[in-house]
Amino acid sequence: MAVDLLLGLQWGDEGKGKIVDVLTKNYNIIARFQGGPNAGHTLVFNGKKHVLHTIPSGIFHDDATNLVGNGVVIDPVIFKGELDKLEEQDIDYRKSLLISRKAHIILPTHRLLDAASEAAKGKAKIGSTLKGIGPTYMDKTGRNGIRVGDLELSDWKERYRTLADKHESMIAFYNVEIEYDLANLEEEFFKAIDVLKSLTFIDSEEYVYQAQKSGKTILAEGAQGSLLDIDFGTYPFVTSSNTTAAGACTGLGVAPNKIGEVFGIFKAYTTRVGSGPFPTELFDEDGETMGRVGHEFGATTGRRRRCGWLDLVALKYACQVNGVTQLNMMKGDVLSGFKTLKVCTAYKYKGEVIEHLPYNIEPENVEPVYTEMKGWEADLTTMTDASQFPKELNDYINFLEKELEIPITIVSVGPDRKQTIFRN
Ligand code: IMP
Repeated sequence: MAVDLLLGLQWGDEGKGKIVDVLTKNYNIIARFQGGPNAGHTLVFNGKKHVLHTIPSGIFHDDATNLVGNGVVIDPVIFKGELDKLEEQDIDYRKSLLISRKAHIILPTHRLLDAASEAAKGKAKIGSTLKGIGPTYMDKTGRNGIRVGDLELSDWKERYRTLADKHESMIAFYNVEIEYDLANLEEEFFKAIDVLKSLTFIDSEEYVYQAQKSGKTILAEGAQGSLLDIDFGTYPFVTSSNTTAAGACTGLGVAPNKIGEVFGIFKAYTTRVGSGPFPTELFDEDGETMGRVGHEFGATTGRRRRCGWLDLVALKYACQVNGVTQLNMMKGDVLSGFKTLKVCTAYKYKGEVIEHLPYNIEPENVEPVYTEMKGWEADLTTMTDASQFPKELNDYINFLEKELEIPITIVSVGPDRKQTIFRN
């Protein structure tokens, strides 16, 4: 069977966790392929909110196997915290959670390095979640990292010490004030490593290959969004992994010709956390309303998300890079009550009007060109069928489908599993 992908098409926080949770009944295996605890996937069901950072969003379904793939970076301390929360809810994860031996481990000193690097950047900081993601991927590509499979080796603690000592000298080199107590951090880290070691480690590319061969259905769950991709995002204000479709091939060992459906998840407007350009960002009451009604605060850091109109130039780009086959529109309910809606369909760029994403999208280089549409008043959150949608919402959806040339198959009208409307 081909592997289906589910990806965020904006700057993250599109609502991927919710849709994975909704779609899990159709899949045997849910697999994370990149990123780490910088992600915060929120699921709401039976009146309760659950936030996952590293564990795949299929974990609440008894029949699904959940795989943390080789492309993911794992912080054992945060991972243990997630497991503790699952235990509190009597979720039996032992049989259903598998971890790739090739996934890299975030050390306490990776987190400290992240903080030192950001502090040294001053105003130019990335706005990182400070979870150690960048430094861990740097050690991966620099061929210094420690992998989950290394925990099974007798000398892994020596390797740990060598790397942590190197990190400490790098932290000193940054020459910024970072207070820390490494002995304390290490105590917590090694306790969490023991918990991690009690889980099942696998050669995940072989597992994924055999699963495909035997007809198992697999959904690869992306983290962050396409505009945060290390290659195709708004560099350097990006994360350190490939968040786009190709990342699923390298992050799980799936051959490119074995990719099936590509679900592209987007919000009916746009948000961004952290620094970096955002052409349709709003600094007025409309942006404030989106943030307030949409509860736009980061699930991992609690930071306020920047809000703006939907940017179709950027969305088209993400659809192209990922080969999206179906779109899922999230948080349409947040736009209820806006008299007029704006959608950016082009940019004014160096005296020209362009419809593709250029190299520079800083405010001094691009100005959004908007198409205005009539908004709707109706509360969407109680709707259960697309036939109940107001005309203006249908106009909005039809306009996006025409522009993007991809069907919008799911419209989410609230955070709960049940608030999900399928369109034919
Ligand atoms: P890092 O991946 O923590 O280093 O953060 C790099 C940039 O990506 C920052 O702007 C973060 O705010 C952003 N970022 C990282 N993970 C997420 C996410 O899951 N959702 C939204 N933004 C994210």
